[in-house]
Order: sequence, then structure tokens, then C-alpha cells
Amino acid sequence: MKLTHTSTPDNIYPFDGQPGNIREVLEAAWSVIEAGVHDRHSAFHLPTVASISVEGLPVMRTTVLRGVDVKKRVLRLHTDRRSAKYSEMLADPRISLHFYDPAIKTQIRLEATAELHVEHPLAAAAWEASRPSSRLCYAAGIGPGIEVPSPPAAPTARDAEENNGYTNFCLVRTTVHSLEWLQLAAAGHQRAVFEWLGDGSVSARWLAP
Ligand SMILES: Cc1cc2nc3c(=O)[nH]c(=O)nc-3n(C[C@H](O)[C@H](O)[C@H](O)COP(=O)(O)O)c2cc1C
Repeated sequence: MKLTHTSTPDNIYPFDGQPGNIREVLEAAWSVIEAGVHDRHSAFHLPTVASISVEGLPVMRTTVLRGVDVKKRVLRLHTDRRSAKYSEMLADPRISLHFYDPAIKTQIRLEATAELHVEHPLAAAAWEASRPSSRLCYAAGIGPGIEVPSPPAAPTARDAEENNGYTNFCLVRTTVHSLEWLQLAAAGHQRAVFEWLGDGSVSARWLAP
């Protein structure tokens, strides 16, 4: 079954009038992702993000989910412009994000496009909103992934006085194009996929789990 609906700017869940609970699935998915921003104990706080290496291989890592704008389908992450993932997303902005919360036996997979903002007003606002302890990572003199003779000490507030690392800070805005929900249940697993199309419409389909 394929349901195609026209999205309007004020209607983020364009399933009004549709039978079944596929609309509720999408609402639940956004709701748990959104809650993950501020709930440090939520499994949705730490998405695994996959990008594509320069060799064309998938590369994954854990990140902190910093913000969500459900209406715009934008998730925000922070990273260091000196990291491998920065170069990877610059070369190819197609990324995937993965969440699994065993408490609700739910996996969510997102396909998204990453926009990188360095020394940009949006990056400056995100930097200002970050806690000083989070900003300290960016003051490290040696960038992530550089070989070192032994594990370096963490950057200190004193290091940050000399160079606060702002120029290393990157705000990543990812726009979601596809969301897949899988919830395990003894009565029957439920899997649904939502795809947003260029014309603003979204398709919602149930899949066999
Ligand atoms: C719990 C946890 C949270 C992390 N959060 C971030 C993050 O928000 N941003 C980030 O760039 N790296 C974060 N990292 C480190 C990445 O997983 C990764 O090791 C590092 O960024 C280098 O990745 P890359 O070489 O693929 O660029 C986190 C790691 C852990 C274990």
C-alpha cells in the first residue's frame, strides 16, 4: 500500500483523514527523536552517523544529537572540521543516522543530506549555545585522527584562553529525506517507511518486517 499526501508548511504530519495508525507511527518517531536532544539517558541522544569514505566505504561513529526541527526535518550535530567525517561529508553529503532504543524495542533509520557550517552565523549561534565543557574539545591543538606518540591530555580552560577552537567547530545540519521505523512486538513487528519527495509530498508505506 502506498499513500501519498501533499505536505503543507503548517502540516508536518500530512496524514489527516487516513485510516490506520501510520500517521501515529511518524508522530511517535519524531517525538522520540526530539526527546533524545535533551534526555541524556535516552538512546536517541546518541545516534550512529554513517558517511561515505573517500574510498567509497561506509564509515560509522557515535555522535550527540544537539537539536531537532521536526517541521523542517532537520537534525543538528556538532563536529570538528579537522575530522575525517567533515572531509567525507564535504565530498559527499549523503549520510545515514541510526538509533535503537531497547526500552521501546524500536529502531529508526534516517537517510539525510548534511550541510556543514564553519565560521558562519549559524555555527556562531550553536557555539554560543554550547556548554564551555563541550567547547573545550575544539581547543585541542592536535586534530582528531592525527597519530600521536601517546594519548594526549584533555585541553584545559587555559589552552582555550589562547585559542578557543571556534574555527575548528562545525555545525552539521542534516535534512531527512527518508525515515524507517521498526518496532518489535510479540504480536507482530511493525515496519514503516516515510519518504519526503522534492515536491513537498511524503509517501508512507508499511513494509514486511
Ligand atoms: C558517546 C560519544 C559521543 C560522541 N559525540 C560526538 C559528537 O557529537 N561529534 C563528534 O564529532 N564526535 C563525537 N564522538 C566521537 C566520534 O564517535 C568519533 O570517534 C570521532 O568524531 C572521530 O570520527 P571520524 O574520524 O569518523 O570523523 C562521540 C563519541 C562517543 C563515544
